[in-house]
Amino acid sequence: MPNAPLAPRDRLIVGLDLDSVELAEAMIARLGDSVSFYKIGYQLGFAGGLPLIRKLADAGKKVFADLKMHDIGNTVAHGVASIARSGASFVTVHAYPQTMKAAVEGRGDSALKVLAVTVLTSYDDADLGEAGYGLGVSALVEKRAAQARTIGVDGLVCSGEEAARLRGIVGDRLALVVPGIRPAGSAVGDQKRVMTPARAIAAGADYLVVARPILTASDPRAAADAIVAEIAEASGRAV
Ligand code: C5P
Repeated sequence: MPNAPLAPRDRLIVGLDLDSVELAEAMIARLGDSVSFYKIGYQLGFAGGLPLIRKLADAGKKVFADLKMHDIGNTVAHGVASIARSGASFVTVHAYPQTMKAAVEGRGDSALKVLAVTVLTSYDDADLGEAGYGLGVSALVEKRAAQARTIGVDGLVCSGEEAARLRGIVGDRLALVVPGIRPAGSAVGDQKRVMTPARAIAAGADYLVVARPILTASDPRAAADAIVAEIAEASGRAV
């Protein structure tokens, strides 16, 4: 779905992985209109950052609440309904069937999109075995992607390497949101499977999630603009 209608700038989601609301607000001010979409996860959210969802939404920005929810259905459904009222555009849940069904119910007909995290990218086959699973990463990712499509979630968080394969499973209706993006020449950090913005777009990503390559750049705004330019070039659209 979203590929064609999305402007390149609206496909970049900047992860506000910062320790305080003050640091986040300073970064948002520096980035200005170079960024239209932000992600708030555990680090900032649990440091008092959740009210920023409403503040950013009121300022015309989109917000991805990366809360990776997983609990009994009733709790997930009400949690997602609260996030829908907060003004967020995306929320994440872990891709367990009960959890995904509850999240879709909690989303209702609001504008919030529910994204499922299939298998955390820090897990390999041995980690899954240790956690009691009988399937390896690849088989479990495929199984959960198919379940996500059937249940009616709106998108998946996946690595760039998984994007093309998952597009084949879920079709065009689901958005593919890809973290682990590193512009050529930038530090990889703790990410193991990274891709350049252009390669991720070519692999079928609808949205790219980028944190450290922008947050730690000497000129964050220039770093964001460079990524948007790369998205534009890879997708054949003007910035
Ligand atoms: O700093 P960096 O660009 O690596 O940050 C990537 C962001 O995407 C972080 O907020 C991280 O939590 C998130 N993420 C990830 N891998 C996943 C899911 C989310 O790196 N599988």
